[in-house]
Amino acid sequence: MSLSISIFTRVVALVLIGLAMAPAVEAADRDRLLSEPGVYGTFAAFSLDADWGKQDLPVRIAQLTVLKGVVEQHREKMAIDVYLLRGLSDHADVLFRIHAIELRETQQFLLDLQSSLFGKHLTTTAIMHGLTKKANYVPGMPDQVKAELKNSSEPGPKPYAIVIPIRKSADWWGLDQDKRAAMMLEHTEASAPYIKTVKRKLYHSSGLDDLDFITYFETSKLEDFHSLILALEKVKEFPYNRRFGHPTLIGTVKSLDEIIEILAQ
Ligand code: HEM
Repeated sequence: MSLSISIFTRVVALVLIGLAMAPAVEAADRDRLLSEPGVYGTFAAFSLDADWGKQDLPVRIAQLTVLKGVVEQHREKMAIDVYLLRGLSDHADVLFRIHAIELRETQQFLLDLQSSLFGKHLTTTAIMHGLTKKANYVPGMPDQVKAELKNSSEPGPKPYAIVIPIRKSADWWGLDQDKRAAMMLEHTEASAPYIKTVKRKLYHSSGLDDLDFITYFETSKLEDFHSLILALEKVKEFPYNRRFGHPTLIGTVKSLDEIIEILAQ
């Protein structure tokens, strides 16, 4: 037993050291992909099949090495984040969040992933696409609200990630911009107490998916996130949501190496 654990640790370490040399998208480019408008964001959630855990350890490690290689190869062009959903979500085991300038680059990554030896064990649970855009309502908001929105979130790790897809009703889209802006101001004011503990990112999905938005959050305080949702359920904009979640994906933010170690076990 102790022999197999030590072999396991050494092999995983070798795999990680070897592949750590692989080039990745420059930090500046990653920052741009994660902050600028006009970037495609894809959320791809997968479950591992029952055969995965039945394979011998060296086979699992070899397949995870392939996973690492596929991710590192595509990280030259795009930002790829990974999350562990297993244990917290019954929807999927792992989630990839991919940011790319072209959706077809994301497609190539997902094709390479799914056709790899590791990918043969994956079943797709959800794939959702969105586009980052300049703020629609914030420019017309009072200066004090704009200043509050600039307050960045508290430093320190935010281990939890939550993804909630949203579709709004035709009534919402039929409203005048002024009416929608007033409701989004109320939405923002209700959310303001949570700006420091809940980091957020919005993706516009209309026409790219059966959705209007993908909302993505990171926090270390899930209780605050829960209170935030309760606060938003009280604002006038909320009843215009036709779909909220379905699925709501909740997991923990992990490095690729951490995911590999967990899945190898
Ligand atoms: C820290 C908490 C939050 C803050 C400060 C916040 C703030 C904002 C702001 C300022 C906008 C307008 C963006 C624009 O100008 O285009 C917005 C849009 C939006 N927010 Fe939030 N929000 C928060 C949390 C949430 C949560 C928890 C949800 C739902 C799960 C949510 C769903 C949305 C959606 C769907 C939009 C787009 C609405 C539309 O354009 O019709 N937000 N939010």
